[in-house]
Amino acid sequence: MPMTARLEAHDVLNIADLRRLAQRRLPRVVFDYIDGGAEDEVTLRANEHAFDEVTLRPRGAVAVAECDLRTTVVGTQQALPFILAPVGSTRLFWPHGEVEVARAADAAGTVYALSTLVGTSLEEVRAASSGPLWYQLYLVGGRDVARKAIARARAAGYAALVVTIDTAVAGLRERDLRNGIKELLGGGRVAKLRSSPQFLLHPGWLYGFLRDGGLMRFPNVVLADGPMSYVDVGPALERSVVTWDDLTWIREEWGGQIVVKGVLTAEDARRAADAGVDAIVVSNHGGRQLDGAPATLRVLPEVVAAAGGRLEVLMDGGIRRGGDVVKALCLGAKAVLVGRAYAYGLAAGGGPGVARAIEILRTEIVRTLKLLGSASTADLDGRFVDVPPHWGRPRASDSLRSDA
Ligand code: GLV
Repeated sequence: MPMTARLEAHDVLNIADLRRLAQRRLPRVVFDYIDGGAEDEVTLRANEHAFDEVTLRPRGAVAVAECDLRTTVVGTQQALPFILAPVGSTRLFWPHGEVEVARAADAAGTVYALSTLVGTSLEEVRAASSGPLWYQLYLVGGRDVARKAIARARAAGYAALVVTIDTAVAGLRERDLRNGIKELLGGGRVAKLRSSPQFLLHPGWLYGFLRDGGLMRFPNVVLADGPMSYVDVGPALERSVVTWDDLTWIREEWGGQIVVKGVLTAEDARRAADAGVDAIVVSNHGGRQLDGAPATLRVLPEVVAAAGGRLEVLMDGGIRRGGDVVKALCLGAKAVLVGRAYAYGLAAGGGPGVARAIEILRTEIVRTLKLLGSASTADLDGRFVDVPPHWGRPRASDSLRSDA
């Protein structure tokens, strides 16, 4: 069956179905890299569970002919209230994965935020799309290396820079370690051979991977001796922690819109506003960094209150349904970022898989809006949701103190 037909078949109805297809096609080490989180995966699960805890308050007997999903985030106009989040190593999921994602985002009229840690150059990704792109920055390789990437992203016409602040050290992803990721990336031939059965069991993936050039390097992190290799990333992250002070020179180098990703408290929201950034993403890195961090949906109201309109607030984490997007918008997010939802689609079926993931979320948002009795995502607010009493309310002091 052709790929598009397979992705539209009756058994691919939702993001969970794409996840199932991805699991079938990928070797375990790649699937778990997408699917897994840090340590006991408490935060990973909490992100999804938080959406189940929020209930919707529909207005009945309202006829909504058409729904308006458009929004503008940090000056970037987009047709949908969700952005494709930076996801590392996308090229391992599908040949030229980043190009496929950029094209699908362009066709859908939404933003793709390209990660630093990918196998395709930011210029090649830019050339593949005429739609809005953001560039996500890690300081791996040090300031001078980052400066060059910033200049390249600016010259290529990326519309905003996303600075991730929750990655002082790589989270402990135990699934990756058990799957032998270290041996695979850095080990000798024997170690690689030992993990080969999982690849041989997935010949479709293996064929694409080898034709695409095998294990990629990171062309957006150019060191003195060329693009950074995979094994160097962990130590490089630790050596190049981004701090609030870095925001000053990053802003000067970039000279455009800046989005800080990884805010979970009112205090950090105020720091970001004081640092003059344009937007923040309430994010725990999809449960991949600090296990025990709160579900993002749960802290969203606190952060929105603290931001007090000084900057735009986005969120990510746990979004698997259009209804989840709606709930996040009701609780104050200007838009959301989705990561795994489209990564499963890419792994399941390349560009058409990403397009299918986007379409699933879009139609679910429209259906949810109609059932809620709302014609526009811009009209959504707290009146359309109930949060459980044990979540508590944002403290009154959150929007008043600025000395954090
Ligand atoms: C990279 O940022 C990752 O979460 O794997």
